[in-house]
Amino acid sequence: MSEHRFWGGTIRKLWPTETDRFRDHLLRLDKDTRRMRFAHGVSDGFIEDYASRMTHMGSIVFGYFEDGEMRAAAELRKLGDTWGHEAEAAFSVERAYQEKGVGTELMGRVIRSARNRGVHLLYMSCLAENGKMQAVARKHHADLRFEYGEVVGEIVPDGPNYFSILAEAMDDRVGYMLAVFDLQTRIAHAA
Ligand SMILES: CC(C)(COP(=O)(O)OP(=O)(O)OC[C@H]1O[C@@H](n2cnc3c(N)ncnc32)[C@H](O)[C@@H]1OP(=O)(O)O)[C@@H](O)C(=O)NCCC(=O)NCCS
Repeated sequence: MSEHRFWGGTIRKLWPTETDRFRDHLLRLDKDTRRMRFAHGVSDGFIEDYASRMTHMGSIVFGYFEDGEMRAAAELRKLGDTWGHEAEAAFSVERAYQEKGVGTELMGRVIRSARNRGVHLLYMSCLAENGKMQAVARKHHADLRFEYGEVVGEIVPDGPNYFSILAEAMDDRVGYMLAVFDLQTRIAHAA
């Protein structure tokens, strides 16, 4: 089985033109998952605006796709205008796709991308009650601490090396082919 396929799905980076897929995934999150993702309840309008700013913020967004639909996302965000020492990550998996290892797999991709961009400290935050997120973060050796009712996770990625850069580049090539195939399928369905 390819590294890109597990439980019938595939993971790839989104193209800047795919903000609609990111938006539709976030809009499908049930009320509780939405609250866990954004740390409070947010409106559809907020999500539309948030997703539309994905490319402006220069974020890297990984999507998990099953049957042509994006069912999970992992975001790696810069904290300034360029990639610096620190970055932030966020995750969302639609309810029916949770607890199947997708979040763990996505976090691995985000950590590798952070590593390859010279990030030394990767932050993620979640509500204190969010046991699943904390379990995933622990699996990736995050240092978790409680802060004002939230849990902040810090991961110190290893420095980039030939293999980490090559692995991301190879994933990107496969991701490109998957995206083209996905686009062709959607065009065929629409026709
Ligand atoms: C948090 C989230 C990203 C995790 O993704 P996922 O695909 O469900 O995670 P995985 O299946 O890879 O792993 C979940 C782990 O949590 C464990 N778990 C489940 N419920 C748990 C709980 N209440 N307390 C502690 N651990 C729990 C599972 O056993 C599993 O660990 P294991 O693989 O060692 O058995 C996903 O559930 C989600 O989108 N939640 C809502 C949004 C959110 O919370 N985002 C994080 C803030 S940005």
